[in-house]
Amino acid sequence: MRWLSIVFVLVLVALGARAHTPRVLAADTASPGPGPVVTVPPDYRNWPYASASLALSYPSEEAKLSPAARAHLPPAKAAPSKAAAAPNATPAPAFQNVFVSPEAFAAFQKTGLYPDKTVFVLEVRTSVARTSSFLSNGLYQGDVLDQGLRMEMRDDARYPKTKWAWFTFQKAPGGGWQPLGSQPEPTTNCWQCHVTHGAVQDSFTQFYPTLFAIAKAHGTVKGTYVK
Ligand code: HEC
Repeated sequence: MRWLSIVFVLVLVALGARAHTPRVLAADTASPGPGPVVTVPPDYRNWPYASASLALSYPSEEAKLSPAARAHLPPAKAAPSKAAAAPNATPAPAFQNVFVSPEAFAAFQKTGLYPDKTVFVLEVRTSVARTSSFLSNGLYQGDVLDQGLRMEMRDDARYPKTKWAWFTFQKAPGGGWQPLGSQPEPTTNCWQCHVTHGAVQDSFTQFYPTLFAIAKAHGTVKGTYVK
């Protein structure tokens, strides 16, 4: 009888291991991995500027995402941040500014590729229509939104599976930025679209005209990216 209980225990252990395997794999892509919490570089506004877009939206891709993932996407429209908003402020097209870390940009200029430790910051600002005696129909950049900061970082050792990781931040009560949700984002939230539709590695360099010209000159545009 004793051997029967030993077999029983062994079967339970084997089943337990099988049940855990997928969860461990899934967690690998969403867990922070070793190392400190990722924070927003305080000087990113001094970094090389990739480009700006206005009212960017991708409804067919958004439809594939969970509501939680959709809530982390940079919005196409936005009212001014709460602090500055008029009581009945209506959403206006949002600007997205993209910056790239200086060392990575220097390497990119030489090779057309973003090296290990590249950081991109995407800043979302509301737009403001201003008119005056000499201006009409102009849209200018307003405040950074309360949840208006996204980051993308390449760290081959920390994220061996995808190399790149994505992050969402919101304004912290005492100033600065704090993470919104888990660090990094689950791969389905961000990586999936970036790896499929991004033209250079996992980035959307096709929308950054001067950087795209550099990539084309070096032949580093992916032949496989879905336009
Ligand atoms: C459906 C597609 C899609 C998804 C999902 C998506 N992005 Fe992006 N992302 C884009 C596009 C398009 C751009 C180009 C932005 C521009 O031109 O202003 C971009 C640009 C970026 C950039 C600038 C660097 C680069 O790769 O070009 C960052 C940072 C970024 N996204 C963060 C995120 C984060 C964080 C998430 C998940 C919460 C996310 N993205 C999800 C489409 C996507």
